[in-house]
Amino acid sequence: MEVQDFTSGDCSEVIVLIDKCRPYVIPYHVYAYWILKNYFGSVCKIARDGTQIVGFVSALPSMEKGTLFIWQLAVDPACRRLGIGSHLLQAVREEAIRLGFKSLQYSISDGNFASEATFQRFSEKAHLTTSIIEKLTSVGLKETVYQIDL
Ligand SMILES: CC(C)(COP(=O)(O)OP(=O)(O)OC[C@H]1O[C@@H](n2cnc3c(N)ncnc32)[C@H](O)[C@@H]1OP(=O)(O)O)[C@@H](O)C(=O)NCCC(=O)NCCS
Repeated sequence: MEVQDFTSGDCSEVIVLIDKCRPYVIPYHVYAYWILKNYFGSVCKIARDGTQIVGFVSALPSMEKGTLFIWQLAVDPACRRLGIGSHLLQAVREEAIRLGFKSLQYSISDGNFASEATFQRFSEKAHLTTSIIEKLTSVGLKETVYQIDL
């Protein structure tokens, strides 16, 4: 398994992968992935096993908040619990540090225990501090927003 910048990835393949990882992530229009690939490709990562994309994470730099917001972390159901999610997060962390960001932010839907465990283990293993910065509650939206200080 190799982690690469999304610049080398294929948007339609990522959409197929994300479709397999519902319900906590859902695929958006191919144009959204084209934007990620062409404008944010170094902070968005793919995990490749041979020729197949088995993991994806995207991140968006926020000029307003001075943070890198992680969106859509997804690992093929057939390849979970092998450390791929952690490797993708580590690759984003390294790129965030390289670019001078002081934090990562992300949100997790209520009940998404696999994602909670993944981010928590990632933060613990790297001896980083995680804090809750916001709770989003409205119709169809129950999310907790976290920050990891780098
Ligand atoms: C969340 C997700 C990306 C994790 O990917 P993964 O490759 O399986 O994660 P890893 O193998 O790197 O696991 C990281 C840690 O979290 C733990 N973990 C992962 N999934 C877990 C689960 N279902 N239950 C308990 N612990 C879990 C692992 O055991 C590991 O801990 P360890 O280092 O002590 O062994 C994957 O489950 C997924 O794609 N889920 C669907 C999409 C999703 O919910 N994305 C997140 C949106 S915020």
